[in-house]
Amino acid sequence: MYQPAITGSGVFTPSEIITNDELVAAFNAHADLFNQQNADAIAAGEVEAKPQSNADFIFAASGIEQRYVLEKEGVLDPARMYPRFRERSDDEPSLMAEIAVKAAKIALEQAGRDARDIDAVICAASNMERAYPAMAVEIQQEIGMEGGFAFDMNVACSSATFGLQQAADMIRSGSARTVLMVNPEITSGHLEWRDRDCHFIFGDVCTAVVVERAEDAKGARFDILDTRLLTQFSNNIRNNNGFLRRTRPHGMEDRRDMQFMQEGRKVFKQVVPIVAELMTAHLADNDIAPGDLKRMWLHQANKSMNDLIGKKVMGREPTREEQPNILQDYANTSSAGSIIAFSKHSDDFEPGDLGVICSFGAGYSVGSVIVRRAG
Ligand code: COA
Repeated sequence: MYQPAITGSGVFTPSEIITNDELVAAFNAHADLFNQQNADAIAAGEVEAKPQSNADFIFAASGIEQRYVLEKEGVLDPARMYPRFRERSDDEPSLMAEIAVKAAKIALEQAGRDARDIDAVICAASNMERAYPAMAVEIQQEIGMEGGFAFDMNVACSSATFGLQQAADMIRSGSARTVLMVNPEITSGHLEWRDRDCHFIFGDVCTAVVVERAEDAKGARFDILDTRLLTQFSNNIRNNNGFLRRTRPHGMEDRRDMQFMQEGRKVFKQVVPIVAELMTAHLADNDIAPGDLKRMWLHQANKSMNDLIGKKVMGREPTREEQPNILQDYANTSSAGSIIAFSKHSDDFEPGDLGVICSFGAGYSVGSVIVRRAG
């Protein structure tokens, strides 16, 4: 068995930003338009009027201040409220592959690796741009790999930690020697921007991680000491869009359940204890006291959720250095959140320092990856 290690990570951040104020202005204009267009039905009590959103509520409820998106004009158009992407021919790189390559280049450079050194690509994300061929196979070609294999996987917000376990297991067993795991998250495509309860939640990004044999590392590395995954079925975060859509009566209509839906309060209450228990047991089984951790890189959905999980695991309030958040800038970027936190907040690690990357989300799904800086 070989020791797997993270040798590089990278974040591609889109150039367009939507602040809470901009978002709320667009939503409120949309709500006014909706209420005007449905005035008679609203007056007759057949349709509910759309209430206004509020930037102070958004910050207080989530900790989010802004989000990056690949295209903001379409999202902020009150008559549209979703991104506007250009048509791409089958001969052009798909959008997911394009941003995956950008993040991959940064991670490969940090690892001191060339695409030709990579054996396997895992594209782990909450949504795939098409059914097939797999996004990962296109990314394999776009980065210029010679041989090897690639596949997609989706465990929603936990896709990256589940992807890291797959990569680590492949390195351990020898089925691959150097793995690239990418998380292109175009969440602006699945978010229902017309729903006040969730319109502020998500942002776009892509992260990438290189995992290889520790003995092959060319520079500093994070040995993956252990991984633990858990899933438990829940309908509280759900999206019904899928390949059978056109087969069902009314399937092709503009339906609320074809975008991201959640029971936010239930998710909050149910997921926090599951995550805290899993992290605590995972650390204990590896003879690591919570106080031995230099850092927790948590999934980035909600600040209060992270504060609570951090407190339960540490037995006290963690410091900002122990539990850094990036969600104020990026919002929830689904599976990429904990990897952004890791990538942006790990340079100060000294050999021997310990940390945990932990994700949680739809499924429910939880993933915990314990790492130790080495080399
Ligand atoms: N602007 C103003 N008011 C809003 C609003 C908005 N954008 N969105 C909701 N409200 C209102 C609600 O209608 C509700 O009003 P009511 O009390 O009159 O019914 C009130 O504010 C509270 O709403 P609620 O949904 O209970 O807020 P919350 O404190 O639970 O925060 C979330 C909402 C989504 C931020 C929170 O539940 C959460 O983060 N959950 C974790 C789940 C998660 O992030 N999942 C992502 C996938 S992992």
